[in-house]
Amino acid sequence: MSTLPPATVTTAVPKPVTVPELRARKGGTPIVCLTAYTTPMARRLDPHVDLLLVGDSLGMVIYGFDSTLPVTLDMMIAHGAAVTRGAAHAAVVVDLPFASYQASPADAYRAAARVIAETGADAVKLEGGVEMAETVAFLATRDIPVIGHVGLKPQSVRATGGYKIRGRGDSDAERVIEDGIAIAEAGAFALVVEGTVEPVARELTQRIAIPTIGIGASAACDGQVLVVDDMLGVFTDFTPKFVKRYADLGTEIETAVQAYARDVRSRAFPAAEHLFGGGPTLPAGKSPKRA
Ligand code: KIV
Repeated sequence: MSTLPPATVTTAVPKPVTVPELRARKGGTPIVCLTAYTTPMARRLDPHVDLLLVGDSLGMVIYGFDSTLPVTLDMMIAHGAAVTRGAAHAAVVVDLPFASYQASPADAYRAAARVIAETGADAVKLEGGVEMAETVAFLATRDIPVIGHVGLKPQSVRATGGYKIRGRGDSDAERVIEDGIAIAEAGAFALVVEGTVEPVARELTQRIAIPTIGIGASAACDGQVLVVDDMLGVFTDFTPKFVKRYADLGTEIETAVQAYARDVRSRAFPAAEHLFGGGPTLPAGKSPKRA
């Protein structure tokens, strides 16, 4: 029991990160962003990051699709709501999935408004450059905070014929930079720059007034994002060159499961400490509630 008088006992309430605060991080301390798709993972990441991205990468990482294209708005809303339930500090941004926003600004507004209203997220993210600038302006002027996404755009994989690094030649470099400038000028408050070479990321970062958040785009950006399952070594189907592995949880999970299987087969589990002692016999078909 504490000997401190009650008035001096304080509980640290984490201060939520806001969209204007993220916008103001341009050129300052780099923004730390990771993807999250579930409440328990969001709770783990939340105190340590500025921004949680409910990325449509969940289609590949969680659902086992071979691209992000089959992901639906309902899936993004379910996972977005799960992540906001686990986030007390970090801002939460939810990806608009393929085909939910490209046809018209009005479609984009309806999809984004559902995401914001039904998940409690702070912002939406959408892929695209010059061609999506009108849509970004439509959302931003109607108070829906938007993060853009240029460079390698996974939702364009059919059109580009694969996940290709952007900006290697002069004309493609110019195209990526033009795309980023168009999205920034349209009113996005931050810009994800994926899969491009350092000079392009550097020039784009210098030429726009909003923070760039890089993934495979060098340390020249104003922040970094990684897919959490990649950096923790849980998703290992393929590992892009730009991923740094900070843990090998995939191997740890397998080791733990092997030990469990061994224990069950040898009847070493459950042991005495896992048994309920005495007490009334449970009626048939009832199981004890979890403590
Ligand atoms: O879907 C996603 O996780 C993303 C990141 C890779 C930036 O868009």
